[in-house]
Amino acid sequence: MTKAGRTAALAAALAALALGAGAAGADVIKVGVVASFSGPFAVFGNEFKYGMDVYQAQHGTKVGDHEIQFIFKDSGGPNPDAAKSATQELLIKDRVNYLAGYVFTPNALAVAPLVEQSKTPTVIWNAATSIINAKSKYFLRTSMTQPQVAAPMADWAIANGIKTVVTAVTDYGPGIDAEKGFTKEFEAKGGKVIDAIRMPIQTTDFGPFMQRAKQDKPNAVFSFIPAGPPAFAFVKAYADNGLKGDGIKLIGTGDIDDETTLQGLGDAAIGVITSHPYSAAHDSAMNKDFLAELKKLHPDAVANFAAVDAYDGMHVLYKMIEAGGADGAKGMAAVIGSTWESPRGPLTLDPKTRTVIQNMYIREVVRGPDGKLENKEIATIKDVPDLGYPAP
Ligand code: PHB
Repeated sequence: MTKAGRTAALAAALAALALGAGAAGADVIKVGVVASFSGPFAVFGNEFKYGMDVYQAQHGTKVGDHEIQFIFKDSGGPNPDAAKSATQELLIKDRVNYLAGYVFTPNALAVAPLVEQSKTPTVIWNAATSIINAKSKYFLRTSMTQPQVAAPMADWAIANGIKTVVTAVTDYGPGIDAEKGFTKEFEAKGGKVIDAIRMPIQTTDFGPFMQRAKQDKPNAVFSFIPAGPPAFAFVKAYADNGLKGDGIKLIGTGDIDDETTLQGLGDAAIGVITSHPYSAAHDSAMNKDFLAELKKLHPDAVANFAAVDAYDGMHVLYKMIEAGGADGAKGMAAVIGSTWESPRGPLTLDPKTRTVIQNMYIREVVRGPDGKLENKEIATIKDVPDLGYPAP
């Protein structure tokens, strides 16, 4: 078959699935989860599973009469082709009713046409570029967008005497969203971005970029780097190249110092200031319950934002299944616009953007009472929507 022929055949198969949705009074609801379960970003897959496990320990593995079957597919890292073929298989072969997961923006963008044609409600648990949700009305997002995170960071910087900044971001969707979101707010309030560094996604040696930022002599470096090994290497390079010693502050999105890399960073991370929707140090009864249950199930696990994004993603899936069973349209109608309590604070699934409206916390890395490093919340900006939708 020609490529055009294959595309047409796939579109027809997906459209047929959309027609069939809800027809079967299925008592087993299938949910496909596409995420990074191997490679350098496997930490995301692990954290997603922690969040799912805690949710199921607290809420059970059935919704009413419905059994829920999760089918996991590994997309590795940022790999749109792998995400697309995994999603295609879940839709056509496994006939899943719902989709979830998606760590990387290019992966989520690659599956948008499949999601749209098959009308499959898809709960994004991480990918954080604003434009994604504009690509299909079936995308819902329980994580965040980078403009949502970056603008509050800019406000904090202005309020705390930072006048000049060098932005240093990974050169793809979320990095560019973070850079734009930060710069727009920072400059509107009178700050100046004196250099904008974009680093290739494959970068492992951040030394040259740090040297450039150092020579610019800003008050602070603002950064987004995907959580995991690159973020770890970046914060290390910030200290190793003497920027910390020179008094240049490191500020950014919470991806750069999430709880899975924090202890390993040691003193290099002390004083780093980030904005993010979740800190494991968040002081609430619900977060304490979340952490206690996680400890029971996985004694060595560390909770980070991805675990809570999946936990809240499970809430959205359960509510959809409760309201609609296999009928995704009914399910979506029940969750869009709804408000609930999360270990991170209150959430509302915004009808306009289909990303959660949520508090942003400005956090400072300090040693906690037990001597361990933590992201201590030092300010709360309430009810922040996705500020980048549709992307500027
Ligand atoms: C994304 O690709 O959207 C992404 C990846 C890793 C993060 C945040 C966003 O930590």
